[in-house]
Amino acid sequence: MIDQLYRKVVLTVAGQKAIENAVRARGWGMAQRFVAGETPQTAIQAVHDLNKDGIMANLDLLGEFIESPAQCTQFADNVITMLDAAHADGITPYVSIKLSSVGQGKTVDGEDLGLTNARRIIRRAKEYGGFVCLDMEDHPRVDQTLAQFRTLVGEFGGQHVGTVLQSYLYRTEEDRASLDDLKPNLRIVKGAYLEPETVAYPQKADVDAAYRRLVYAHMQAGNYVNVATHDESIIHDVQMYALAHGISKDAFEFQMLYGIRRDLQRNLAAAGYRVRAYIPYGRDWYPYFSRRIAETPRNAMFVLRGMLKG
Ligand code: FDA
Repeated sequence: MIDQLYRKVVLTVAGQKAIENAVRARGWGMAQRFVAGETPQTAIQAVHDLNKDGIMANLDLLGEFIESPAQCTQFADNVITMLDAAHADGITPYVSIKLSSVGQGKTVDGEDLGLTNARRIIRRAKEYGGFVCLDMEDHPRVDQTLAQFRTLVGEFGGQHVGTVLQSYLYRTEEDRASLDDLKPNLRIVKGAYLEPETVAYPQKADVDAAYRRLVYAHMQAGNYVNVATHDESIIHDVQMYALAHGISKDAFEFQMLYGIRRDLQRNLAAAGYRVRAYIPYGRDWYPYFSRRIAETPRNAMFVLRGMLKG
């Protein structure tokens, strides 16, 4: 309950324009803890650094709720540029995109622009043997994102495209089961948006319990699972579940955010688990940064200390 309240307060305050302007003006130094840099080259360097520790990477160009169709298409072009740069640098690209940032919900030439641009991105990633994960955004987008995921798996194959389910939504266990026919590669997260009680569990204990059920169900169905959490108790339980049910270490991976629990990431990789860090980069870092602050007061303290130092 306190967690929910904290998150609500932070996200509401972060949504104020004056706060945003102040943080944008002074916060980049602190955002660098969570954001790899502003260019593809800085992100690619971060990939190489993580690879040295046996950690895989997921690149994410930041940008949300971009307004005009032309900007959305430009954003998709920028993602493709990053795919090209990663491939040229010897990296098999694994990227995440938010469909809102490439035009979901905007109809151009009779087709949803998000779908059109996602196709362009996935086509290029597939050429390089890569993978594109469709991030999950706030709850009004879930239906369309899952429908577009289904379309894209049909066109490109499940080894090149995946998506995300959020355990805080009441609907998610049914959504997971409804995708089983695709044998989908799914990332399971708790959920990062401010959602009303009408659609999402208000109690953290319920979100955590649903999280475990989702991961176990997806493993039991024989699907690849991306266990995206920093929650050590869940990570431990998933390890035990996999051991007890004969699920091999290459049937799932742990995913964490860049700059968060680096010790845990390294320890898991050293113990032979597949581990992937989600590496955000780009100039539009403010919304991503706000959500990380909203996740734990520890991050807010980190930022406040930085601001007080000037
Ligand atoms: P929880 O919040 O319960 O935290 C568990 C432990 O980890 C606590 O000890 C906590 O302090 C620590 N911790 C958590 N976050 C931390 C942070 N930022 N800094 C320091 N410590 C932290 N969400 C979404 O809605 N759509 C999406 O597509 C994605 N994608 C995604 C990809 C990946 C790779 C990850 C790891 C997460 C996401 N998320 C997401 C975010 C997710 O929904 C959730 O908000 C965060 O992962 C935080 O929740 P935890 O599962 O870590 O647990």
